[in-house]
Amino acid sequence: IMCGIIGIASNKPVSINIINSLKKLEYRGYDSAGLATLNNNFIDEKKCSGRVVELEKILFKSPSNGNIGIGHVRWATHGVPNIINAHPHSSEEVSVVHNGIIENSDELKKDLEGQGFKFKSQTDTEVITVLVTKLLQNSKPLESVFKTLKKLKGSFALGIIFRNYSDIIIGARRGSPLAVGYSNEENYLGSDSYALKSMTNKISYLDDGELCVLTKNNVEFYDVNKKKINKKIYTVSDDENISDKGDYKNFMSKEIFEQSETIKKCLSEYTDSLKKDINIYNFPIEPKKINKIILIGCGTAYHSCLVAKYWLEELTTIDAEIDIASEFRYRNLKFNSNNLYIFVSQSGETADTAAALDICKKNNVKTCSIVNVVESTIARNSDWVLPIHAGPEIGVASTKAFLGQLIVLYILALKLSTIRGDTDKKIYSINLNNLKKLPEAIKNTFKLESEIQLIAKEFLDAKGSMFLGRGNSFPIALEGALKLKELSYLHAEGYPAGEMKHGPLALIEEGLPVIVIAPKDKYYEKTLSNTQEVIARGGKIFFITDNNKRLLSTNIRFRLKVPHVDNLLSPLLLTIPLQLLAYHVALLKNCDIDKPRNLAKSVTVE
Ligand code: F6R
Repeated sequence: IMCGIIGIASNKPVSINIINSLKKLEYRGYDSAGLATLNNNFIDEKKCSGRVVELEKILFKSPSNGNIGIGHVRWATHGVPNIINAHPHSSEEVSVVHNGIIENSDELKKDLEGQGFKFKSQTDTEVITVLVTKLLQNSKPLESVFKTLKKLKGSFALGIIFRNYSDIIIGARRGSPLAVGYSNEENYLGSDSYALKSMTNKISYLDDGELCVLTKNNVEFYDVNKKKINKKIYTVSDDENISDKGDYKNFMSKEIFEQSETIKKCLSEYTDSLKKDINIYNFPIEPKKINKIILIGCGTAYHSCLVAKYWLEELTTIDAEIDIASEFRYRNLKFNSNNLYIFVSQSGETADTAAALDICKKNNVKTCSIVNVVESTIARNSDWVLPIHAGPEIGVASTKAFLGQLIVLYILALKLSTIRGDTDKKIYSINLNNLKKLPEAIKNTFKLESEIQLIAKEFLDAKGSMFLGRGNSFPIALEGALKLKELSYLHAEGYPAGEMKHGPLALIEEGLPVIVIAPKDKYYEKTLSNTQEVIARGGKIFFITDNNKRLLSTNIRFRLKVPHVDNLLSPLLLTIPLQLLAYHVALLKNCDIDKPRNLAKSVTVE
């Protein structure tokens, strides 16, 4: 289960703060929610299917008064999203919230049923509840949890409360992230620091195998061998406009329109206008010795890796490879200590990406992560971190993080090109100068919104759609198709335009919307020919370009002109109309923009 967890031990009632934190955690899962507090030696459990607001209504009618409690938002894997399967899972003695998957739950359940224990839900989590309950008959809470953990296979983060030990919450981590927060007469457990930010900025992170015991005044940590340990306390950054939509209808539109600012901020972090240089230092491998760069990510982050491959090939003499994290982690790879392995992830918690990083670490190769959340697992586990400085991204569909990833990857390629002597100083300074124009160009691209609103209408009744591009516009075609799929549930395919004739052209029929991404680069004429092939078969073309010249063909249904920037940077601008298109189609279809169905923001399950 890929979900959000919160736990609060306090000297005052906690249910309202649990609800507030769960709202922040909804980006992790939102098909059911629940909480449990301890009230006069009684576990007061409340659950609902659907969103946290439903849980809030239940609490409004029947408040929970306990000073200690746990809460959960769920993204279902084992068992349908209904009240019974919602967390917490409680017995009379204990209540458990869980993020992750217990791989041997079927065996454990069979065994426990054989001993006469009863199960209420279809979840893997309930075996934890039953196991701890059973072990509590003969041992104290900490011991029972340790013994339970020994029996579990899989990955998890847990929060547990105990009827007869009314002042403690036990937390445990193996594979899924878990943070601890500190405040006055109040301590917290959370799936991430973001959920705790409104209450504290003092945070510790559990590492795999560790366990913690929280009371309102104290937190103790233990390692796998039950040895007491000390943990470092971080002060997490206090980002402005964290979770406020401002005047925007939803986070996604805020995050799209913020991109001129987030890119400006990121550029100011990485470029030194006085020295006319990029301030990236401390490469984990001496840049001249880098043999190959392998870029790894999932979904949108993978698309930014794809663009970076074109950049590295164009700007440097380094070989570049890309990989989808869920594939990388299971292949039989040959590791090389002269290769740099770069992990791209907005959240820094994506399970597949984190696992791929672990494999690299085990093979003693150097790793770099490009993340938005600098306190994240992936950031903490890599040798070198390049943050994208985009600020919290709340909309489940990634937008400003994608542009942030692109800009950092571009800056990295540029810096490598100059220190390795792959490009001469003059070209370096021209390329660097080109970056300055980006924020304004991004702002000007937003002006296309009213045209895009018209285009969106033409997608409403379409059977499907295609997105085509070549060169560094090909990954943008993939990203455009992904955005449309996830936001509007409309079928969309992204393809390299030159591949159409090898199969996908068969999909083209009268009126099928086809987005062609065609900046005036070295592929332009080729893309035009591919466009004609689609037109000849009845496809309805939406042509996105930075070329001022109008095309003579009248068969193009709509032409969108983005500002012209250097060809290397055009992917950043060409992405924006596609984000807006997905957004407006979803809006017309009345879809839940910030929380598309079946998805979650932080994919902490494999
Ligand atoms: C798509 C989207 C996902 C993520 C992917 C990786 O809009 O958001 O495809 O890009 O799940 O997530 P991170 O970047 O957090 O590793």
